[in-house]
Amino acid sequence: MDTITIRPGRSAGTINRNIYGHFSEHLGRCIYNGMYVGEDSPIPNVNGMRTDVVDALKRIRVPVLRWPGGCFADEYHWRDGIGPKSARKRMVNTHWGGVVEDNSFGTHEFMELCRQIGCEPYVNGNVGSGTVREMSEWVEYLNSDGDSTVVMERWANGRKEAYGVKYWGVGNENWGCGGNMRPEYYADLFRRFQTYCRDYGDNKLTRIACGPNGGDYNWTDTLMKQAGRYMDALTLHHYTVPGDWRDKGWATEADEERYYLTLKKADAMDGIIAGHLSVMDKYDPDHRVGLIVDEWGCWHNVERGTVPGFLYQQNTMRDAVVAALTLNIFNRHCDRVVMANLAQTVNVLQAVILTDGADMLLTPTYHVFDMYKAHQDASEAGCGVYCGRLPNGLERISASASVKDGVITLTAANLSMTEASDARVSIEDKRPASASARIMAGGINDCNTFDVKAAVEPVRLDVSVDNAGTIALTLPPCSVASLTIHV
Ligand code: AHR
Repeated sequence: MDTITIRPGRSAGTINRNIYGHFSEHLGRCIYNGMYVGEDSPIPNVNGMRTDVVDALKRIRVPVLRWPGGCFADEYHWRDGIGPKSARKRMVNTHWGGVVEDNSFGTHEFMELCRQIGCEPYVNGNVGSGTVREMSEWVEYLNSDGDSTVVMERWANGRKEAYGVKYWGVGNENWGCGGNMRPEYYADLFRRFQTYCRDYGDNKLTRIACGPNGGDYNWTDTLMKQAGRYMDALTLHHYTVPGDWRDKGWATEADEERYYLTLKKADAMDGIIAGHLSVMDKYDPDHRVGLIVDEWGCWHNVERGTVPGFLYQQNTMRDAVVAALTLNIFNRHCDRVVMANLAQTVNVLQAVILTDGADMLLTPTYHVFDMYKAHQDASEAGCGVYCGRLPNGLERISASASVKDGVITLTAANLSMTEASDARVSIEDKRPASASARIMAGGINDCNTFDVKAAVEPVRLDVSVDNAGTIALTLPPCSVASLTIHV
């Protein structure tokens, strides 16, 4: 029998809602067709944004959306995407599929998308091929109320009030697609660029520096040493690649070995976060600088028969379990991880939504975000797990818990491919008055398709509370559950 003890008295802090953030890049069918279809599309839309997709994103309470990339950010020139659409510059998206980018989705459209979803915009500026002036004027265009030519341009483009963007990324993956820089060089550029990203009015920018790739601790060390005092947050990118970059494996064809390899690689997030935090501690002992994991998720082989540069992949229970495991890790690190952004929202990598023309489906990963949304802004509660181990050495059960308004939420995944878990849940120093639960379970390759859209989705799970206050539940193999406990 497995046991989970929730310890509300041992909290790492408040779980920042932004841990449940998403990422949308001009890549494949993420923005175009996936989220934006244009005002004249027969697909139902409001100001060009797909109504079905926006409604689905509102339901999971997306708190923050990162845009325009990714690698695309460092070749994006924001002025190409404002003004009359017919006059907007056309460019070739050299990173992603070599398709023509007509810039019909630009700054105003992104802000409109965020308004409709009800989330904060996180804009990632261009360091790789952009100028300081360009970035500085983008911030001014978005946030200033001053009587300047740049602001008057915004007025002319139909927006009077400043947008008040809070989250500002200074470059993306500048160690790679964002300019192949050395950390020393980027640290200097970061210091320079961020100087001209001004605060306007009451709006205080969160200046976000490009952080490391996975376990590159030297990048973090150099950057923190040379530029730590100029930043509010540092990013981290860590993808779960269930193989090597040449053969990552197919999204829907995992066998037992690949499944456990996937989980092991996803679980590495915990140690990587801890490693970077300990480096950051050397230069920031007061923990002023937050860690933002602004790209994470499973990266499989591109689906057969699709455009290789579009990074389209199906999404299965294996991805859902990875999402559950990773979000539990973020929750437990909520004292330092202030934001995370799953890559990427629609039709790209570990998407929460897939579209096919006018059709749309919710992936198993979407349902995980739905089951976990009660953690947003809640107080994290310690979670003691006692359970068996998997063939890859990981604990069979991954869990995290939080408390908000007197209600405890426990999220738990049974990572085993074959064995059910009979779990007993108790709360330290408290007795539950009632408990209800939802569970999503399936085979590791089970997914939703346009023929069967609800093959995998959460259902109600029966739980019982005994006289001693212990909650009993059974977690089937490869499952994700959320418990709502009233005390
Ligand atoms: O998410 C796809 C790509 O992965 C992003 O553009 C880049 O930042 C990362 O390498």
